[in-house]
Parts: sequence; structure tokens; C-alpha cells
Amino acid sequence: MERLDGKSLDLTKENIKALKKLFPEVVTEGKIDFEKLKLVLGEEIETSNEKYEFTWHGKARSLKLAQTPSTGTLRPDKESSKNWDTTENLYIEGDNLEVLKLLQKAYFGKIKMIYIDPPYNTGKDFVYKDDFRDNIKNYKQLTEQSLKSNSETSGRYHTEWLNMIYPRLKLARNLLDDDGMICISIDENESSNLRKICDEIFGETNFVGEFIKQSKVGGGSDSKHIAKEHEYCFIYAKDINNLPIMSIPYDEEYLKRYKEVDENGRYFWDTFARPGLQNPIKYTITAPDGTKINGEWIRSKERFDNDYKEGKIRIIKKGNGEWSVQFKQYLSEGKRPRSMTTNFGGTKEGKNDLKKLFDNEKIFSYPKSVRFISTLINLCKYDNPIFLDFFSGSSTTAHATMQLNAEDGGNRKFIMVQLPELTDEKSEAYKSGYKNICEIGKERIRRAGEKIVKETGKTDLDIGFKVFKLDSSNIKTWDPETANLEQNLFDLKDNIKEGRTKEDLLYEILLKIGIPLTTPVEEVNIQGKTIYNVGSGAVLLCLEDKIDLNLVNEIIKLKPKDFDSKVIFKETGFLDDSVKTNAIQTLKKNGIMDVRSV
Ligand SMILES: C[S@@+](CC[C@H](N)C(=O)[O-])C[C@H]1O[C@@H](n2cnc3c(N)ncnc32)[C@H](O)[C@@H]1O
Repeated sequence: MERLDGKSLDLTKENIKALKKLFPEVVTEGKIDFEKLKLVLGEEIETSNEKYEFTWHGKARSLKLAQTPSTGTLRPDKESSKNWDTTENLYIEGDNLEVLKLLQKAYFGKIKMIYIDPPYNTGKDFVYKDDFRDNIKNYKQLTEQSLKSNSETSGRYHTEWLNMIYPRLKLARNLLDDDGMICISIDENESSNLRKICDEIFGETNFVGEFIKQSKVGGGSDSKHIAKEHEYCFIYAKDINNLPIMSIPYDEEYLKRYKEVDENGRYFWDTFARPGLQNPIKYTITAPDGTKINGEWIRSKERFDNDYKEGKIRIIKKGNGEWSVQFKQYLSEGKRPRSMTTNFGGTKEGKNDLKKLFDNEKIFSYPKSVRFISTLINLCKYDNPIFLDFFSGSSTTAHATMQLNAEDGGNRKFIMVQLPELTDEKSEAYKSGYKNICEIGKERIRRAGEKIVKETGKTDLDIGFKVFKLDSSNIKTWDPETANLEQNLFDLKDNIKEGRTKEDLLYEILLKIGIPLTTPVEEVNIQGKTIYNVGSGAVLLCLEDKIDLNLVNEIIKLKPKDFDSKVIFKETGFLDDSVKTNAIQTLKKNGIMDVRSV
């Protein structure tokens, strides 16, 4: 019986596996033979010390940090969740580095779009400091204190920010599907650094574009040099060759031109003349009265002849008596609507969105607007996508996702990740009863969901969310804090930490064997013991004590006919050793080969 090791995906091992697949000859006994690798790569090796690179103090360590598996877990919190049994949305409280590590197995390549709005490093915002030795312990200590802003006077100002963002982006990329993309908001403090690290992590060729978003209006009299009114949003694809075409819906202003309609849709009469093209298309067109019109045109002679016959081109006399050639410019709805332009307006909208829900626009500083995030979410059309925002703040991304589903009947799902950063005692949020930002984020989703249902009358929308909280592992042997204690040897009889529930353990196991957290779980009660049937029999878990062969036989009955099941027990859960041996044999005889323990 294989014992689960309790770690999140080991990325170094995965990289070695990938390399081995490409070049089996360079891996011997799990180690890379660099000399052989160099030979395999021939001339394409950079040997000069002066190479093109962007680096800073701590970069190598940050990379290592991203590769180190997490020893933490995500514990379910049903009480603060909404519609636990049916929802496919997630709200995760915790430091996003650890959370991203924990999501690697279950969500590898499953996310279509990631949006993040990280701290901009203005000197006033808080930049999380990772601890290379024990990040879970660090997290627990940090969230109990009030978190402090990164000070502009600190010498390592950019360094600390880069060390924070780099490992997170590395891990985020793994979660993107092959046709997925990431959108990142940023301002001038770190925009140039962010571009460089994104070029490195996602690849320069996968840079889709950047656009600016208005962030404030005016300020001209306060600023000495230039009053900045905008911030940026960068978009990178996982692989630009797979990224769907991007478009945004037409706005009313744009639609006004398309006044006419025929069997092919809306159109307007546009001029056929296009002088000054790089490769001019020149020919003579004959007007109805025989006048020859020599000109440079938008389309070929062949196309002209055809469209003229079909009534898609007209030649009319203008007020000044001259002939004008015109063609029907169609609004190609559904095919390729407008492209995103590089300037996105709107300044106070985010605050107004919050005001409508909380009657107080000061409940959260710097929220993005629902309109802004909806536009990003809607840039590419995906089927039933999952959107991830791991700096989710007041949960605008969740709000926008629900709103869009209500508008077009879509089935988009969200994953919000947010640090339970304490609110300042003097803040409006604190005075209104929100002790940390997660409390604001969750309440926003509750209120926005109810409002959307009320306004649209659509009761079948998924406005729920399952809450999970980052914590140390539930299993003593999986937790480095307790794993090496001598005491642990005596405690091993019961391997599970005190105060942790069977459900805590259930979700830790699911996460670590790579099952998404919203997979349906059915609780089956047999002989007073609980069996968790996950994903209609894909995984059957029994985390009870005193398991006997009768119970094992009942578990076998739950195995579906058409696919394999994994069965998981507690290592110390069997009545005795002979039951354990017999159980494994019986399961195997019944076609269940994958039997594991924790
Ligand atoms: C600029 S705000 C995001 C605002 C959000 N887009 C909105 O519309 O409300 C950045 C958020 O990231 C959170 N944050 C900072 N470091 C974090 C970390 N290590 N893990 C998770 N969240 C973090 C902060 O608490 C803050 O709420």
C-alpha cells in the first residue's frame, strides 16, 4: 500500500521528468548530466559571462522558493461558505505563494484567465515577505500581527517587491491552460521591472499587449513635473499561438454608424477609394453615365465586379456633381467585433461599485471596477472557464464573473485568493466590523450575488463559494514542525493532529492527489462509519478507525463499473495488521489496484 507523502507538486521532479522525456540520455539515476545536456544542445549554449539578463539580489533564492513544495494544507470552512454542496467557486484565505503551490496538482493547466492586481510598491502598500525556512509558520505569525507597509526608505525597495512577485508568477504560469492568459495591473513604480520578469517567465513572444487605464483625473497643480492619470495592464498568453482572438463588445457610440440593414446584417456605406496604400490597388471604374473614374481602391477589381453585381457597391453622384464609389461596410457581429483599444477610461467606478453594496465607498482602498474586470474576462471566449485572482482584495473579479454569467447565461467559475490582512483599527472597514480583508471580500460576494439575483430574477446562478483556509498540514508526519520530534513516534498511532476533523483530512488528501476542491463529495454511512465517495467513485476514502473486512467489502460495492477507483485509508485505521493485508488483497481481486494510506 503506497503511503501518501503529503507534499504539493514537486516542480523540480516534474522538470526532470520533462527533460528525461525529451533527452533520456541526460538523466542518470535522477540526476542531470550537464555535460551531456550541453552536447545535446550543440551550438545553442550561452557561455559568456556578459549575457542579456535581468537580475537582482535574491532572484535565485526566489526561484528555489517557487520550486519547494508546500507542507501546508487548505482547511474547509463550511460556516463562512455559501451553498457549499452545489457551488463550483472557491474563496481561499491565505498567503498566495503557499496557496499557489497547493493548487499546482489539482489545477495544473486548468485555468483560462488569471487576473492580478498586486501591491504596486508605492511605498504605502504592504509587500508580503516570505520566509525561506518555514513559510507556513511565517504566515501564521504574520497574519496575527498587523502587517506593515514596505517603506520607501528601505534600501532594497525594488528587490523586496521582485522577490515577492517572481515566485508567484512562476507558479501561476503552471496553472494556465495552453490557450489561457494572464492580465496584470501595475503602475509606474514597478511597470518596467514587471515587464522584464514577465518576458522571462512567459516569454517575450507571448506578450499580447499593454493598455492603460485611467486611475485619476487631474492633479496637475500638485505635481511638479507630469500629473500621472493612468496605470497599466499587461497581458501575456501561455502560448500566443493558441490564444483565441480577442474582442470587446461594441459600445453604443460605435454602433451608431451602422444605420442600414440588409439580409447580411447591419452596415453603413463606406467610401471605396483608398488612396495612399503601401501597395495601391489601381484600376478604372465606369460610372452609370459612362464616366471613367481612375482611382486607388480598397479591394481588387475582381471583388469589385462581384460585389457590384450583388448590390454591395453603389456609385452615386455627390452634391458637387462628382461620382462617389461606396461599399457596404458590415458589422461582423460574432465574427470579429472590436479589438481592445489601449486606453481604458473610468476612475471612480470601482469605488462606486462598492458603495452600491456597502453604502460606504471607503470600505476598501483601490478596488478595480466591475466593468474593467468584466472587459478582461470577456476578451477571449472560453467554454466554462475558471478565472483565478490571487490578489483578490474586495473580490471585484468574483463580482464581475457572476455578473457576466447573469448577463449571458455563461458558466464561468472563480477562485479568489486573499491574505487575511488585518484592517486598520481607524479604518471604515474596521469600524463596520470587518477585521480583515477576507471578511470584506466574502461579504462582497454574498451581497453582489444576492443583488444580481434580485435584479435579474435568475435563481439558477452560481452565487455560492466554498471557503478554504491555509494552515499547517493535518498530518503529523507531513508537518516539518512535528515530523522529527521524538514524541511523534509515540503519537504515530494516531497520525492526525488534534483539533483537525475528518473533512480537514479529506480535503488535504484530495488536494495532494490532484483532485479539484469543488469535485462533488458524497458521504456514505455504513456500519456507523463514513465513506467519502468523491467524483462518483473516482476516489473512495475511509478515514475511520477499526476498519474490518465487512467495511472493505462495502467499499468495493461503490466502485463504478466503467472506470478505476482509488481507495484511501488511514494507515492506522485497520482493526489489526492481518485485516490490513487481507483488505489490500480483496481490493486487488476486485480490480482496485490503487490503494493508498495516510
Ligand atoms: C490592490 S489590492 C487588489 C484589489 C482588487 N483588485 C479589488 O478590486 O478589490 C491587492 C491585494 O492583495 C493582497 N495581498 C498582498 N499580498 C498578498 C499575499 N501574499 N497573498 C494574498 N494576498 C495578498 C492585499 O491584501 C490586497 O488586498
